[in-house]
Amino acid sequence: MDETINPFSPGAGTPPPELAGRAEILRKAEVTFRRSLSGMSTQGLMLVGLRGVGKTVLLSKIGNLAENAGVQIVQIEAPEGKGLAELLAPELRRLLLRMNLGAQVATQSRRALQALRNFVGKLKVSVGDFEVSIAPEPGLADSGDLETDLTALFVAIGEAAKEKGTAIVLLIDEMQYLEDEHLAALFAALHRVAQKQLPIVLIGAGLPQLVGIAGRAKSYAERLFEYPPVGPLTLPDAADAIQSPLRAVQCQLTEDAMQRLFEVTQGYPFFLQAWAYAIWNAAKSCPIELSVIDAATHTVLERLDTSFFRVRFDRLTPREKDYLRAMAELGAGPHRSGDVAEQLGREISSLAPLRAGLIKKGMIYSPAHGDTAFTVPLFDQFMHRAIPEWKAVPSRTKNGATPSK
Ligand SMILES: Nc1ncnc2c1ncn2[C@@H]1O[C@H](COP(=O)(O)OP(=O)(O)O)[C@@H](O)[C@H]1O
Ligand SMILES: [Mg+2]
Repeated sequence: MDETINPFSPGAGTPPPELAGRAEILRKAEVTFRRSLSGMSTQGLMLVGLRGVGKTVLLSKIGNLAENAGVQIVQIEAPEGKGLAELLAPELRRLLLRMNLGAQVATQSRRALQALRNFVGKLKVSVGDFEVSIAPEPGLADSGDLETDLTALFVAIGEAAKEKGTAIVLLIDEMQYLEDEHLAALFAALHRVAQKQLPIVLIGAGLPQLVGIAGRAKSYAERLFEYPPVGPLTLPDAADAIQSPLRAVQCQLTEDAMQRLFEVTQGYPFFLQAWAYAIWNAAKSCPIELSVIDAATHTVLERLDTSFFRVRFDRLTPREKDYLRAMAELGAGPHRSGDVAEQLGREISSLAPLRAGLIKKGMIYSPAHGDTAFTVPLFDQFMHRAIPEWKAVPSRTKNGATPSK
């Protein structure tokens, strides 16, 4: 059918035609920023889930809702290997300038600008010039210690927001990539702001390892946030995601076609979009039948193999590929780390650094102690296609003669 009116939108962070099954998370987010706006204490949110479940589109949606409610938003994505201060400072500067727009610079806003100026000066972060001439205030956010200074900065900004009668929502994506120390500083700053009932709240998103990373950074991170899981859609929600946009263009999937689509995608939003996009293009008429789904599957997988999966595969070292292939040999997972080690004919302990590296890269995570799982849904099947010829180490798994290095 006509590709130019294809309603579906596979991609990273591309808004879906129908944001299905997320009403409860959106409601929680709304409660969070509305409480903050009324000067009440509130927990932040950490949306955790695998790749392609829709964390980024949720953050954007929450950002829109917050803006419409009169909340100031600061939206950033943590890239691998960039510091928190460099990431935050330019956005906070933009925020402060925006908050002052048109009005005379209010007392607390001026102090917040001073704090930011001291903060960037001390930590040598470049954010461009400060247009507003402000007298320096020594001792404000200028100790050189990230945690201390970020806390002072957040308090100053929180007081400015309070003075202006607004609230600030920080939306930070891919939080698992932040260094432990930076995360600790961020949590300490938010903790202080919460104690002082100042209106700054974090709504973050990241891969499942974020929960552990957060707890390690600060033990109170558990109480500072709620961690609503963002998972695959249920069949009724998946049907909503696909059938509503189709209905809008007078089309439908037959019931068994929808059922099959749900099976091949396992309800993962990104896969639903990718399949639906291809199915629409391949279909000749409506309603779209089961045979069209089956015919499209090959094309979709080929496309995913050269894009979505491949970009992740290409970032791996040969040993990392081998580890993931061993996992894939055992199925979708999660798997006991010991079982993966056995596939490779190695001791668990000798594989620990490799496994830790893969967690850091965001390829795998540990759903429970000693368990390992892929962060990308259907990655096990991809690994089989990418490396079809692979053998576990039989002599070592059978006779126990285990040369571990
Ligand atoms: N609730 C949803 N219903 C339908 N499609 C969705 C939903 N959430 C996300 N998508 C689609 O899934 C894909 C991945 O979303 P994204 O937010 O990038 O995921 P993540 O950030 O978790 O990796 C996008 O194509 C998006 O349009
Ligand atoms: Mg994302």
